[in-house]
Amino acid sequence: MKHESQLARLGLFDAKVPRYTSYPTAPHFHAGVGGGDFADWLRAVPEGGAVSLYLHVPFCRRLCWFCACRTQGVTSESPVVNYVETLKQDLRHARSALPDGVRLSRLHWGGGTPTILGAGMIADLAATVRELFPFAEDAEFSVEIDPNEVDAARLDALAEAGMNRASIGVQDFDPEIQKVIGREQSFEVTRDAVRELRARGIRSLNADILYGLPYQDNARITESTKKLLELEPDRVALYGYAHVPWMARRQTIIPVEALPSPEARLQLFDTARRLFVWAGYHEIGIDHFARPGDGLETALKAGRLRRNFQGYTDDQSEVLIGLGASAISRFPQGYAQNASRTAEYQAKVRAGEFSTARGLVFTADDILRGRVIEELMCQFRADLAALERECGAQEGVLQPLAEAAARKFAGVVKLDGRVLDIPHEGRPVTRMIARAFDAYEMSESGHSSAI
Ligand SMILES: C[S@@+](CC[C@H](N)C(=O)[O-])C[C@H]1O[C@@H](n2cnc3c(N)ncnc32)[C@H](O)[C@@H]1O
Ligand code: SF4
Repeated sequence: MKHESQLARLGLFDAKVPRYTSYPTAPHFHAGVGGGDFADWLRAVPEGGAVSLYLHVPFCRRLCWFCACRTQGVTSESPVVNYVETLKQDLRHARSALPDGVRLSRLHWGGGTPTILGAGMIADLAATVRELFPFAEDAEFSVEIDPNEVDAARLDALAEAGMNRASIGVQDFDPEIQKVIGREQSFEVTRDAVRELRARGIRSLNADILYGLPYQDNARITESTKKLLELEPDRVALYGYAHVPWMARRQTIIPVEALPSPEARLQLFDTARRLFVWAGYHEIGIDHFARPGDGLETALKAGRLRRNFQGYTDDQSEVLIGLGASAISRFPQGYAQNASRTAEYQAKVRAGEFSTARGLVFTADDILRGRVIEELMCQFRADLAALERECGAQEGVLQPLAEAAARKFAGVVKLDGRVLDIPHEGRPVTRMIARAFDAYEMSESGHSSAI
């Protein structure tokens, strides 16, 4: 209880703190970055270089009430068919701007629900990608899969196209919780999806589950976690349920009075965390778990764990190209985000343009602070001198920020010379400690460069 009250004092339970899947975070993107910048940044990719590609599918057949993702319901196939045609056009356009010999180190299909594409569309889209962008050696092709929205034909098409990693949405196995969050999915449906994926040679399988759901208590999350462990996923993402009805209107159906208190959320996370650790999983960053030998676990050990829009990753590529409505790209020069509305995205692409609607050009200050935040989120530790050297910054420039963070978070962060360390008891407030290095969040008037 003493620990909880200390965390409460530091703002754990009431802070609306970014998840830091990027720095600067997406709310600070602006309309000053457009299709011209996106094209220039594509042209600047080194010849023969390896890039990552993210394709976004903004559709779902079912609209789960808890879901805060940007997605739209569809009941017929034609919007999906049109969208796939647009994506193919966008892919060809992006390829034409890139120099020769560019290969893919990662391909990820996310959403929404990418498996809403029928088997024919999956094969067609994958063939276009592979014809334009040959896979690099050891390339990974991962797909987000809703176990309720997939069948043997679609899984065959994905396997045929080279999918070697998959992520399935579970959320919780408790039938009452499933009903209340508008996401009914029997254990058998999930188990069968896992079997079918394994049968097709998927060597790396991730499962998403949530803590902080309505009516969830320690007994229920224990039961759900044990059930998930029976399925032996290689990785687990244990996300805190974000109740943001002002952004995701369908969440208004969820009874607020049934949501666990912030203190109970912390306990729910810890209950599930202990079960994963007992089962031999390694803790990865703030909310992931991985079996020994999984790519995330190996990357963590080797100090190569990274964080991008898809969360934790072992992807080392400097360039992530995001295509599709609302998709975000990251280049060494900055971020570029496509038009969020599907109709707007499609209109731009059909007119032969890139749909980039907003973004941000990095300053040297952004890059340095971004690396500190990434290291804290990944390793719970930042070697400030090493990061200053890596970013070509003046020696000692991060020290005042680190000292201020150490004062503000006394007891849950340690500054030992030039190394900032978050011990285990401070991990629940990692995002808040990271925020102490965020120039945009810490200033009232937008960006103020302190370094
Ligand atoms: C974009 S969904 C894609 C998964 C796929 N459509 C499915 O439902 O299985 C990715 C994940 O985001 C997470 N997510 C969605 N809404 C959330 C919320 N309100 N709070 C926390 N995580 C959420 C869920 O765990 C979900 O599996
Ligand atoms: S959880 Fe998945 S299927 Fe449900 S609405 Fe969100 S993206 Fe769609």
